[in-house]
Amino acid sequence: MSDDRTFVIIGASQAGGWVANTLRNEGFEGKVILLGEEPYLPYERPPLSKAALLGEVTVDSTYFWQQEALDEANIEVRLNTKATAIDREAKEVVIEGDDRIAYDKLAITTGARVRELPIDGAQLPGVFYLRTMEDTLAIREAVKEGSTAMIVGGGWIGLECAATLTKLGCKSVVVEALDRLCARAITPEISDWLLQFHLGNGVDIRLNTGVEKFEGDGKLERAVLAGGENIDCSIAVVGIGVIPNAEIAAEAGLDTDDGIVVDDHARTSDPDIFAAGDVANHPNDLLGRRLRLESYENAQNQGITAGKAMLDKAESYAEIPWFWSDQFDVNLQMIGVPENWDETATRGDPAKNEFVTFYLKNGVIDGAISINNPRDLRFGKRLMQANKTVSVADLSNPDIKMQALLKG
Ligand code: APR
Repeated sequence: MSDDRTFVIIGASQAGGWVANTLRNEGFEGKVILLGEEPYLPYERPPLSKAALLGEVTVDSTYFWQQEALDEANIEVRLNTKATAIDREAKEVVIEGDDRIAYDKLAITTGARVRELPIDGAQLPGVFYLRTMEDTLAIREAVKEGSTAMIVGGGWIGLECAATLTKLGCKSVVVEALDRLCARAITPEISDWLLQFHLGNGVDIRLNTGVEKFEGDGKLERAVLAGGENIDCSIAVVGIGVIPNAEIAAEAGLDTDDGIVVDDHARTSDPDIFAAGDVANHPNDLLGRRLRLESYENAQNQGITAGKAMLDKAESYAEIPWFWSDQFDVNLQMIGVPENWDETATRGDPAKNEFVTFYLKNGVIDGAISINNPRDLRFGKRLMQANKTVSVADLSNPDIKMQALLKG
């Protein structure tokens, strides 16, 4: 049976790649066109601040699908192709240079871009951001062993970068505007644990401060901190958060609000347009609210939902958010987005860098963070999914197996 429809996806990222592949996996036989402004096939971002920055992996190995697999699935990938507008009336995507591509259904998976640091000297060579493959390759090229790397922002990117640049022989100095690390995502005790952990690994961390300006003669030479202190440095990496690339949707008249507003089937306010990944502001029934998630798992699974929804096959997308980070020898994982908890339970020993802290609301797990203990976290996720009532005493007792709590 032939299908003469064309489904277009703006954004050749993880979410976009999953939309395209899902269309094929679900048997769609029409045309699938995946548009990407970067010169690369959809690639994994987690290695960008870790193995790829260390130089341990090749660019190709970060691709989700090699070109042959995309060819085999008959997915037309157009790289170096930036979509600039959506003409909803004509049902066409406008490409830079004014080419147009007609669509029957469209998915927007444009992700997010870095928030820029609006200070003097931020344009100097040697000042970087870390979001794309290009960024990672450029930082890697510029790193000088034995020199100081200034890192602006003590969030995930900043801390992962501090760990990797330390491994590469730099002195990493992190400057964080707030009074604790990763304040947006984690609880105060874990922020404090991370602070001690990084200090113990030789990272210099300055809280409650920012960089006032960068200076140098034709290239970065020093950072001037808000208090006036000068720190000589050869590179700086800025990781102060991201902004969803939702403008193309807003300009086309779609509902946007901190991202593109979609429903639990990844549908936007236009029945022929869908959105998924970092750019999509979606409802989550399990959490009882809307949110925009910047996570690997969400990019994949919401991308799959969008692909199915384009074929009218989607089920409601609602998952317990899951996120991880690797820093030095620590693997940190989080489930949920704990906001208001009334009790906490810690299982394991924070001093030994192996523990899980659970956050409970009315006796039920509302979220958890693990340091080097993904196994117990996984059981915590199952307890959370099952809405099981658990006690702090049982959760904190390593002699009681997590499996037993699930059965109990
Ligand atoms: N100076 C210093 N620190 C700042 C400044 C500033 N001018 N502005 C913001 N910050 C701090 C914030 O307080 C926060 O701690 O920068 C940190 C940014 O952390 P995140 O919001 O976690 O963003 P980032 O680390 O850039 O990561 C962006 O990429 O890998 C993904 O999951 C990651 O979604 C995250 C995204």
